[in-house]
Amino acid sequence: MCGIVGVVGSREAAPLLFDALRRLEYRGYDSAGIATLLNGHIERRRAEGKLDRLGEVLERRPLPGVTGIGHTRWATHGAPTEGNAHPHGTDRVSVVHNGIIENHAELRAELEECGQVFSTETDTETVAQLVDLNLKLGMAPREAAHACLKRLNGAYALAMIFAGQPELMIGARHGAPLAVGFGEDEMFLGSDSLALAPLTRRIAYLRDGDWAVVSRSGAEMFDAAGEPVPCEIRQSALPGGAIGKDGYRHYMEKELHEHPLVIGQTLQRMIDPATRRVVLPELPFDLRTVPRITVTACGSAFYAGMIGRWWLESEARIPVDADVASELRYREPPLAQGGLGLLISQSGETADTLAALRSLRAGGQHVLSVLNVAESTMARESDLVLDTVAGPEICVASTKAFTAQLSVLACLAIATGRARGTLTEAREEELVQALLDLPGRAAELFALQPAIRDAAAVVAEARDVLYLGRGAHFPVALEGALKLKEITYIHAEAYAAGEMKHGPIALIDRTVPVVASAPSGRLFDKTASNLQEARARGGRLLLFTDPAGAARMERVAEQLIVLPEAHAFTAPILHSIAVQMLAYEVALLKGTDVDQPRNLAKSVTVE
Ligand code: G6P
Repeated sequence: MCGIVGVVGSREAAPLLFDALRRLEYRGYDSAGIATLLNGHIERRRAEGKLDRLGEVLERRPLPGVTGIGHTRWATHGAPTEGNAHPHGTDRVSVVHNGIIENHAELRAELEECGQVFSTETDTETVAQLVDLNLKLGMAPREAAHACLKRLNGAYALAMIFAGQPELMIGARHGAPLAVGFGEDEMFLGSDSLALAPLTRRIAYLRDGDWAVVSRSGAEMFDAAGEPVPCEIRQSALPGGAIGKDGYRHYMEKELHEHPLVIGQTLQRMIDPATRRVVLPELPFDLRTVPRITVTACGSAFYAGMIGRWWLESEARIPVDADVASELRYREPPLAQGGLGLLISQSGETADTLAALRSLRAGGQHVLSVLNVAESTMARESDLVLDTVAGPEICVASTKAFTAQLSVLACLAIATGRARGTLTEAREEELVQALLDLPGRAAELFALQPAIRDAAAVVAEARDVLYLGRGAHFPVALEGALKLKEITYIHAEAYAAGEMKHGPIALIDRTVPVVASAPSGRLFDKTASNLQEARARGGRLLLFTDPAGAARMERVAEQLIVLPEAHAFTAPILHSIAVQMLAYEVALLKGTDVDQPRNLAKSVTVE
């Protein structure tokens, strides 16, 4: 977590750093800070809370200097106060950090014994104090930094500047991403290439365990042993312009409205318009013989994976295991040799998913990732990437990236089914047609806003909400409940509809609304019975269904949200959008900070 940035240059650093932090705020917004070198001395400004607070501080007390570092924080060790805000350091060195130094307690005790005086509760300060001690012992900055890196356990992306060294910045990475940007007579470090996009397109990514000595004219890179390593500069394709809200109240509202476009763009990449068949890029493995697929991801991306599992199992008849990444890597499931690890991530940087990717690879699996950021660590470490064409997603809670992931997974299930001979040509045609109908159907959902607003009024009053769904709609319920928790702070639980009677039914009364996602079809009657059971206990039922389902449940549901008729294969995608819209409408009623909900961050780069 946290975003870091640094510059060694010839222009005023603070405005550049501040602008880059704006592009990194998705990584955390508990506090922010900037340090620069002013006549050889380290000066810093910090503020608790969102970046705008730092902006106010900088306005009152500008920070001159052409070399500097900046940070936006998602607190791990130490409360989100100004005192714990990065940069950390002494009058010799200043450090910004993304990650967790796992041996910080042991290092702190050792450093205190040596007389170093700490002023924060953070793990990061141990890095600054250790470098400071090395400098005091007479080491040169690069030697001091390298000696420090050798002592660190855990995950880090670091940037440091040194008093009296206006032409020097040191960066290092281990388990957290760090990009080096090459400008004209200026050089940059940043957590990602998006942060650096307005400054330069020429980017080199540090490999895990490597570190870089950056001057105004270039960078030297070294491995953990201190041996020089080549620096491979690539051209980034990311947009450098500001990403606006285009007249919408929130990025979330804008991104919800982008669903039809994003689904269309993503499908366009995967479906040949002439043959109307799914076309995958050349695969480095054979889908016909892959014995098993292991799907893993975090948050919403995992729910996309659960729906993907449903499709892969039903259409391609391939065994699929799905587990959240933070569990999978420690569960050590027996993996079939030559199996396929299927990773799903918007950012391509989520620490747990990345760690799972590496453990799947170590377990002899091929690695296929569904990613929205093509220039991410996971992209570089995968055998094959299937892109979601969602564009930058700014709201912390994922919406359009989720449906883009589903669009890719649906195509993957079709291609796998064809390869394995489980899909007839007619069935493939039918499923592809259902997918091609999706953008239009998704656009129709915005007509449901009045009904969703009525449902939102009921949910906004509640302290707890129960979400139910069955089959591929159980993950839809999970997504709806997660979105509600994230952006409205209302407690919500999602259950497989059939499981309700095994516990959660005890919660149901007039104060606990039950939100269900249940289109008509094969599983409808079963779910309808569960909903009747909830209704019989006084539950207020808000039902997302289709016209046929609505006709059946008219008298049972308090609120019906009638989605356009859709093929059972693609209905989960439409229902996901609808439950996301509900969460958004509730958030509007609650007046919460929709795009940057408390305690969350978009790209979670700590385990
Ligand atoms: C965070 C975000 C979620 C996201 C999850 C996984 O928790 O708040 O919206 O689904 O991370 O992120 P990824 O980038 O791997 O999809």
